[in-house]
Amino acid sequence: MQRIYLTGFMGAGKTTIGQCLAKRLGLSMIDTDEYIEEQIGKTIKRIFAEEGEAAFRQYEREFLRALPLDKIIVTTGGGIVIQKENRDWMKRTGTVIYLHCEFAELLKRLEHDDTRPLLSQHHRQGLEELWQQRLPYYQEADWIIDTTGQSIEQIVDEITKMIKNDPPWKY
Ligand code: S3P
Repeated sequence: MQRIYLTGFMGAGKTTIGQCLAKRLGLSMIDTDEYIEEQIGKTIKRIFAEEGEAAFRQYEREFLRALPLDKIIVTTGGGIVIQKENRDWMKRTGTVIYLHCEFAELLKRLEHDDTRPLLSQHHRQGLEELWQQRLPYYQEADWIIDTTGQSIEQIVDEITKMIKNDPPWKY
């Protein structure tokens, strides 16, 4: 299987960048969070509230393996990298691109967000620690793009160039 996986912390722009990239390269895109929501019939927020984070992580692991289609762009939830099985699976089944962003900029982007369960008041205090903890996992990616201070257009240009220079599969 050959896919392009986009990983990164909440607010890194995975979904927006994935959509632009998919359009540019003429590929389909699947978002792991959206896929889970469709399969379970609940929003991520409701899954966290009613079943807890551990149940969500189990769905994440299960549905990452069940994603349909090959030669697509897969955008992932920010915590997908926590589980080693997920990191290994993504590497085995595609090219992993980590969208890095400095914490201060992420924080600005996430300031008014009330849709993500891990951004509730309770969790906000530990957010930088969470970001630090996850960094080494994100850095296991095949490619790392620093998105700090860059526009979506610039980031998509950079990734497109990388893909054209070293395609994960023959177009
Ligand atoms: C999470 C990130 C979210 C979503 C869930 C948990 C995380 O995805 O999967 O709320 O643990 O960082 P985004 O990164 O798309 O916000």
